[in-house]
Amino acid sequence: MRTVSDLSELKAVNQNNVELNNKAEKGSAMSGFHGLFIPGPTNMPFGVRQAMDIPLEDQRSPDFPAFTLPLFQDLKKVFKTETGQVFLFPGSGTGGWEASITNTLSPGDRVLVAVFGQFSHLWADLCQRHGLIVDKVDVEWGEGVPLDIYAERLKADKDHKIKAVLCCHNETATGVTSDIAGVRKALDAAGHPALLMVDGVSSIASIDFRMDEWGVDLAVSGSQKGFMLPTGLAIVAVSQKALEASKTAKCPRCFYDFAEMSKANKDGYFPYTPATTLMRGLRASVDTLLGEGLDNVFARHNRLAEGVRLAVDAWGLSLCAKEPKWHSDTVSAICVPKGFNAAEVIKVAYHRYRMSLGTGLSKVAGRVFRIGHIGNINEIMILQALAGSEMAMRDVGIPVEAGSGVAAAQEHFRATAPKIELAKVA
Ligand SMILES: Cc1ncc(COP(=O)(O)O)c(C=O)c1O
Repeated sequence: MRTVSDLSELKAVNQNNVELNNKAEKGSAMSGFHGLFIPGPTNMPFGVRQAMDIPLEDQRSPDFPAFTLPLFQDLKKVFKTETGQVFLFPGSGTGGWEASITNTLSPGDRVLVAVFGQFSHLWADLCQRHGLIVDKVDVEWGEGVPLDIYAERLKADKDHKIKAVLCCHNETATGVTSDIAGVRKALDAAGHPALLMVDGVSSIASIDFRMDEWGVDLAVSGSQKGFMLPTGLAIVAVSQKALEASKTAKCPRCFYDFAEMSKANKDGYFPYTPATTLMRGLRASVDTLLGEGLDNVFARHNRLAEGVRLAVDAWGLSLCAKEPKWHSDTVSAICVPKGFNAAEVIKVAYHRYRMSLGTGLSKVAGRVFRIGHIGNINEIMILQALAGSEMAMRDVGIPVEAGSGVAAAQEHFRATAPKIELAKVA
């Protein structure tokens, strides 16, 4: 029997499809779902959507802390921190960057940051706009944090002028994952006290991330990727060392102030109106992640990503990520052959096959299209993304063999699927 929420879900899906269909080829009445294969916003689990289909609530009610305090605690498990504190700001990943910088640094402070994609570029730019001195290391797009250069710079900085080391854990523009444990080693080898700040917007809750073990001081995430929610929350985990730094940091801040937030959060409340509906969704998302088990979540992402990588090989194409050590398990940026425009592939996929692929950003615009394999996604959805990509590539004349990528991924998924004994299942 259908429940009321099933029906409202169906109504919402239909409405969404009507709108997407209207935008797509006029006159063709298509059903089914529009495929969302961008690296965020990601596909929301039904249970998460249901958890947010509720009346608005009183954020100052006596029982609100019974909801918020356990949520803060459980979020720490996702970041793998026991000693850190997690803040939930209305905002997005960009707001999380701003919170991390303005709470812990002062204008004129020096930060070390490697730029190897649009998001590492934007974070460096944000630092500059806040009056910090940015020691920028330009790295070829397709590579990640250069551990050797970081180690040299830190060793050479005898006076400890560098106050923070910034790393984009997963550069979403190029599909590159960096070695954060390696950065911690470089800091320790140099005996350097700089804060370690990590952009985990497209890694946390999807790829292995260990805040305490790696000595991360600020870990920034947002709600719309691994947490499988709508955009609207900056989720920032902060170490005790960073909280201490925030007591003397002089960058102006108001909305993203750790101290104000901490004071109210201690009792389960907020200094201003919190995004209560998103937080209800976040509760369901954290339950889903912890219920699956973080290690299983990471393994699922790796398996799906591997299927995409095998498809790319079968197509005879290459990833933007230059070496396997940089391969991202949440997003693959796929280079189209010279003479072709990746934007055309994306456009054709959108209009002819009703699916969204990630676009190439900035330096790699037109050169790559991206498949997001992050969040609430499984092997059949990946096959759908690969099939649509294949069709769109062939439509624009890219000589990939029909079915080749899909077949490569299928065989990988078959070989790695859980074994079942047919006699024992109903
Ligand atoms: C790695 C990374 N950092 C930061 C951001 C910025 O986050 P937001 O768009 O939520 O502000 C993004 C967005 O895609 C991202 O992928």
